[in-house]
Amino acid sequence: MRLLAQDLFNQETGVLADYPLLSCRALVETSLNVDNERFLDSARNDKRARAPTLRLKVALSDPSPNLVVTGGAGFIGSNLTLGLQEKFPDARLTVIDDFRSGDFKNLAGYRGDFVAQNLAALDWREQFGDEKFDAIFHLASITDTTNHDQFEQVHDNVESFRRILNFARPTKTRIIYASSAATYGPAAEASVESNGAAPANVYAFSKAIMDNVARRVAAESPDWIIIGLRYFNVYGPREAHKGVPASMAYHLARQMKAGQRPRIFKHGEQKRDFVYVKDAVEGSIRALDAKTSGIYNLGSGQARSFNELVEVLNKCLGTNFQPDYIDNPHGHYQNFTQADLTNARSALGYEPRFPLEDGVRDYMQWLYGG
Ligand SMILES: NC(=O)c1ccc[n+]([C@@H]2O[C@H](COP(=O)([O-])OP(=O)(O)OC[C@H]3O[C@@H](n4cnc5c(N)ncnc54)[C@H](O)[C@@H]3O)[C@@H](O)[C@H]2O)c1
Repeated sequence: MRLLAQDLFNQETGVLADYPLLSCRALVETSLNVDNERFLDSARNDKRARAPTLRLKVALSDPSPNLVVTGGAGFIGSNLTLGLQEKFPDARLTVIDDFRSGDFKNLAGYRGDFVAQNLAALDWREQFGDEKFDAIFHLASITDTTNHDQFEQVHDNVESFRRILNFARPTKTRIIYASSAATYGPAAEASVESNGAAPANVYAFSKAIMDNVARRVAAESPDWIIIGLRYFNVYGPREAHKGVPASMAYHLARQMKAGQRPRIFKHGEQKRDFVYVKDAVEGSIRALDAKTSGIYNLGSGQARSFNELVEVLNKCLGTNFQPDYIDNPHGHYQNFTQADLTNARSALGYEPRFPLEDGVRDYMQWLYGG
């Protein structure tokens, strides 16, 4: 079966593409049997994994690390870049982005370097020579899940990652890369990292392959730290450039601000782990201090319904709209997502600070002031 963009996105409502956990199970049906727990255990039990190496001492206490952020013109990447700049005012920062979805405006106030290159073709050695980085945050990715070009999605996402790994291998530079909750596919309860991947689209498939590659490389080199972060439904400042794939919080707020009833699927009880970008950034920065390789969920830990999201938006915007329930055209819609945070808490010390009410309030203040 081949799905078209309009199967995923209703042009009129603009709310159907519920990124990143996708509504249509189809393009790629695959069962990638991965077992993160087994991987983590073997890494933990391997004495070499605990052997101290100078290079791994990036640590949050290092005042002037040399850091790269790929995808830094994008939503999470720009928030992360500006967060790193605030946390480490003396850091040497380099963003790499080809602007395929990102926007320079997201980096207002940024004081670092910028390399405008396509990572799927970038020769890191030629670009950076022998420069040593303390860590590379790899967030660049095709994030438009309605892009059904299987070759482009998998090639660009996976090969970009492979090039980074090849560059970082000799120095064992710490890699912190963006995976996705989309790798889990349909769920009925909180997802644990050890659950097998069940990508329902080619975007999720590309992320599952990155996870497989990361596991293999980390298992081969226990003293090289590679952290995958499975972001859930991130919302917050600097996402407007994404258009359709931007969060539901963004799209619904825009509809309500325009005096329209917020359009959601019947009957609004589908649940999502909505996570505020400030928490996602905090968790990502904490990965600088993780002691072993692994893949971790970064969510709020809460599953909240779209009806609740509308209620929270009404409170924040001072409106009183009833949802406009529309038919859900998707046969295999993701009815539930929730991050199990046990591993992120223990390995990263991650603790989300923004329940939906607080995150949306903060975001609406940023968007509309007041
Ligand atoms: N936003 C979410 O809810 C969410 C959820 C799960 C995972 N993620 C992952 O987090 C990361 C950031 O997502 P985002 O929401 O900020 O998306 P985004 O589209 O705003 O950012 C992605 C950035 O990567 C850049 N990019 C893409 N391919 C590139 C390439 N080959 N070379 C150079 N630059 C390239 C884009 O121009 C863009 O600036 C992505 O890897 C995404 O898959 C996001």
